[in-house]
This record gives sequence, structure tokens and C-alpha cells, in this order.
Amino acid sequence: MAISDIPRTLWWQDDEETGRPAVYMIDQSRLPLAGDVLVCSLHEGVRQAIAGMAVRGAPALGVAAAYGVAIWAANETADIQTTPDFLAELDQVAAEIASTRPTAVNLAWGAERMRSLAHAHADLPVPELRGLLVAEAKAIEAEDEQRNRAIGALGADVLPQGARVLTHCNAGSLATAYFGTALGVIFTAHEQGKIAGVWVDETRPLLQGSRLTAWELRMAGIPFRLVVDSAAGSLMRQGLVDAVIVGADRIAANGDVVNKIGTYALAVLAREHGVPFYVAAPTSTVDLTLESGDDVVIEERDPREVTGVAFSGIVEPGTPVETTSLDALTREGPWEIPVGKGHVVEMSRRGGAFRIDGWVQVAPPSVDVYNPAFDVTPGGLVSGIVTERGVARPEFASSLAAICEGSGALHEIR
Ligand code: MRU
Repeated sequence: MAISDIPRTLWWQDDEETGRPAVYMIDQSRLPLAGDVLVCSLHEGVRQAIAGMAVRGAPALGVAAAYGVAIWAANETADIQTTPDFLAELDQVAAEIASTRPTAVNLAWGAERMRSLAHAHADLPVPELRGLLVAEAKAIEAEDEQRNRAIGALGADVLPQGARVLTHCNAGSLATAYFGTALGVIFTAHEQGKIAGVWVDETRPLLQGSRLTAWELRMAGIPFRLVVDSAAGSLMRQGLVDAVIVGADRIAANGDVVNKIGTYALAVLAREHGVPFYVAAPTSTVDLTLESGDDVVIEERDPREVTGVAFSGIVEPGTPVETTSLDALTREGPWEIPVGKGHVVEMSRRGGAFRIDGWVQVAPPSVDVYNPAFDVTPGGLVSGIVTERGVARPEFASSLAAICEGSGALHEIR
């Protein structure tokens, strides 16, 4: 049990079956019940992985965007002869990937970094541009980990000895190429012996806290307790939280922080109870083109995330199962299993194991739902923003600008 047991989130590797380059990634949509690794050999595969939340978390989305462009260059450009044609198609692919989810700025940042690199080398022939783009995507992955380790070190310094820290959503290793932002701070502070325990918000509706953050903390051997999102106020009132630390999907020039829905409520509670509220994020999450968080497009997601619960599981052969039908399931799946109105259960065969994916309806049918995935926390409620280049403190307009100067952080991109 160690932090190093956490697997990398996504990486570039030759496909073991075809020998062609591919983007490998852990399918986070089903973790921890099913630990599938997705292999994407086309940019559309990466785009679908982003849309389906197989890869998520702002910094990981930046890396995924870069790898999406790189896999297009490596596997889908054999018919393109001239550099102008290559650049024109690249622009379309980058725009397609960047628009898959609207809120985390890193997605556009990763796509734009690849696009502008190629345009800056418009004198090169197509084969060299391909090599350049693949190398750049790998560099973006490596830099992301370096940045997170720097954030971890700077963030650990702001936490007190014996800290009881509350975190929301998953800003862990899985939300980045490796190591995490808010959880990276907790990992580093834990290595320094500073963490007494972590409160993990389950993070409705997709449960990134209970599925992903709890999984990572368990792997890292850090003591934690899982709580429902609405427990935070009561914990703070009882004096059980020394600091809140979360990640961010976009940070505006005035320090407004866009992050997983529920973050704003935590910040208000923290202010009410005198608990410091920290945000940990790389400078690639800072969008200095935005004056405030009010201009950020907040993603609205499928109502079924709110009206029901999804689940997955793997049934290994040899595991006693109360059915006689499994042996007969030798065809390709999935098979839909009727379990009642509105519910969906599918069974499929993966290698030697059977897999069950399902969704059960909890709310009455056809209720109206509002399901924003993110909210805006005013910078005035934030105690500090930990970046890889330093900790910004209020007034954020000047401290963030100073930290981001020359960082290449998103000044012209959107
Ligand atoms: O919808 P998600 O899972 O992509 O949302 C993720 C978050 O809100 C994270 O807190 C944020 O991206 C920071 S990750 C280091």
C-alpha cells in the first residue's frame, strides 16, 4: 500500500494487438468496481472517452486533448500530402476535441498547445509534424506530473501539523496524468507526517469522491472517512475540519474558482466556521482572459445521473453465482436483462470474465431535473490558490497575474 501503487491515468503505447500507436487510459467511469483499460487508436475514441467520463478531471483532460490530437496525427493522416492540408484538418480535430466538455479550460489548453505548435512549424513536411506532435503530447503528460509534484510540495506547507482535511470530488492522481493536485497536496503532507485524516465528500451525482478519491487514499494508505456531501457543515461546526482543499476546472483572473458542484457551498461553510479554504491547480487551469467566473459555461449533464444510480461489476468464472444461465452466455454481449420499468442491466463477456453494467431508477419517472456539473466559488471565499509556481493569496487579481506571468497559462486561448 503506497502512493506509487496508483496506476498512471493515461499513456502512449503501441497497441499490443495491432502494433500501431494508441492512447491507453484507465476507464474511470466504472472504477473501482471494474478496472478496464481503454485503448484508443483514433481521436474519436479519445473524444468519446472524454464525453463518457472515462477520463475526467481538468489536468487529465488537458493531457487527453493533446493525446487525441497526437493519435490523429499518428494514425489518421496517411492520406494527407501537404502541410497546409494537414494544418487545416488539425484545426478541425483540435476544435472537435476541445468542445467535448465546456467547463475545464485544460481541454482547450491541451488542444490549443498542440495546434499552435504545429502552426509554428508550418515550414515542416507532414511526417516531421507528426513526430513533433507525438513528442509534444508526451511532454505535456510528463510536465503535468512535474507540476503536480511542485503543487504538492507548496501545498503541504500551508497545512498545519496533524491536519484533518476535507476534500470534494476527485482532484487526485486520476484527475491528472499522475499524482493529483488537491490530493497531491494531501499525499505530500502525508509523507511529511502532517495528515491526521481526510474527510472525503462522496460528491453526488457521479460519486468521484466515493469511487475515485477513496480508492486512491486507500491505495496510498492514508486514513480517511467517507461522508455524504451534506455532512460538511456539521463536521465544521464540531471543529473536525482544519482545512478544505479542492481542485479547479477553471480559475478566473479575479480568483473565482469553477469546480465540481458543491464546492461553493463548502467555501461558504468554511468561511462561516473560520476554516481555511484552499484550491490546488496548475497554471494551465488559470484563464486570465476571464475577468470573473460568471462568464464560464457550466456543463449540464444527463438527468439520469440524478434520477438514478449506475453500477458495474465483474463476475469471475468460478465465483458462485445464483444462476444457471452464465455457462450459456458464450456469445458476444451485451445482453439487456429486464429488471423492471426504467431500469437497465446489461451483461457482457470480457475475456474470461462476465461483466454487469446497470442503472436503476430512484426518482419517479419523468421528473424535471437540473444537473449542473460545476459551480463558481467567488475568489473572496478562497484563502489561497496553490499552483506549481507559488501560492496566490488575495487579492488574486494581482497575485495570480504575477504567478502566471510567463507561464504560458492560457492567455489567448478559448
Ligand atoms: O466532472 P469531473 O469529474 O471532470 O470534475 C472534476 C473536478 O471538478 C475536479 O475537482 C477538477 O477537475 C480538478 S481535478 C485536479
